Amino acid sequence: MQNRLEEIYAQAQSDLKQITSLKALEQFKIGVFGKKGQVTALMKELGKLPKEERPAFGQKVHELQTKLEELMEQSRATIKKEELTAALERETIDITRPGQGFSLGRKHPLTTVMDEIKAIFFGMGYKVVEGPDIENAYYNFEALNINANHPARDESDTFHLGDYLLRTQTSPVQVRVLEKGNLPIKIIAPGRVYRPDEVDATHSPVFHQIEGLVVGEGVTMAHLKGNLLTFARELFGANVKIRFRPHHFPFTEPSAEMDISCFSCETGKSGCKVCRGEGYIELLGCGMVHPRVLEMSGVDPNIYTGFAFGMGLERLAMQRYTIGDLRLFYENDIRFLSQF
Ligand code: DAH
Repeated sequence: MQNRLEEIYAQAQSDLKQITSLKALEQFKIGVFGKKGQVTALMKELGKLPKEERPAFGQKVHELQTKLEELMEQSRATIKKEELTAALERETIDITRPGQGFSLGRKHPLTTVMDEIKAIFFGMGYKVVEGPDIENAYYNFEALNINANHPARDESDTFHLGDYLLRTQTSPVQVRVLEKGNLPIKIIAPGRVYRPDEVDATHSPVFHQIEGLVVGEGVTMAHLKGNLLTFARELFGANVKIRFRPHHFPFTEPSAEMDISCFSCETGKSGCKVCRGEGYIELLGCGMVHPRVLEMSGVDPNIYTGFAFGMGLERLAMQRYTIGDLRLFYENDIRFLSQF
């Protein structure tokens, strides 16, 4: 009997060496402990033994059982380890292979110029504010002293939306800021503006402006000049000169257009693509805020004065990068954009 137990154990040891999968191990277990298993058969024999031999034999079978379970446990651990090793080998990644490149996007030239302008004014103590693209006639025209007969209010110059319209300029943001009444005011207001223009090399129905407004006690035209000269020098270089030409805007009095000396040829060379030989290029409109504009928005013009300015972003960027056609900014052709 003792021999049989040893035989079973020895057989199990050699069988388990051949087993390399959990499935086979399960099969093995059934062969030993299952209904028709070897150990189960031994238990059945136990009943046939003389009474006095039973305890000793039972003890032996129990020991065998324990030993077999240990063997199986070891085998299970080995199989699992091997499976893991195999899986890791299968799934090896070659980290020395060249990676898949991806190209980084970059800022649109209009964004670059806009960001530069914002940074310059920010550095001069201006806050950046925004107003809505959809306005009404009051903010876009009336409150800016643009009366009902003004040609700018013509159907053909404005996108109307029932009682509303798409702002034709960023100047209505001036009104919104004045109405809030937190004086003094020192802001720029960048944003999109809309005009029903046919698309060509210098016109687009959507473009961008940057508005500026400074209001406080004792603000004069000298401040206007100083601020805009600083701005021009920051943007175009320390050598740039500015000049003012008298102009008319309904919301400023006096009004002017400001030119800068050509940053490309500086002297007005006849072949210059930027200034076309003029020596100067137009940069922006500006002036002292009209007292009626202040008054309409609840700011007392006897106490406060201010200056305002407005410029177009696209034209500035075209000059900056010597781009002859405004449409290039909106076509988003990668070959164009990747040059900046
Ligand atoms: N809103 C004007 C335009 O669209 C530009 C402008 C001129 C804005 C003079 C101003 C200003 O604030 O003072 O043509």
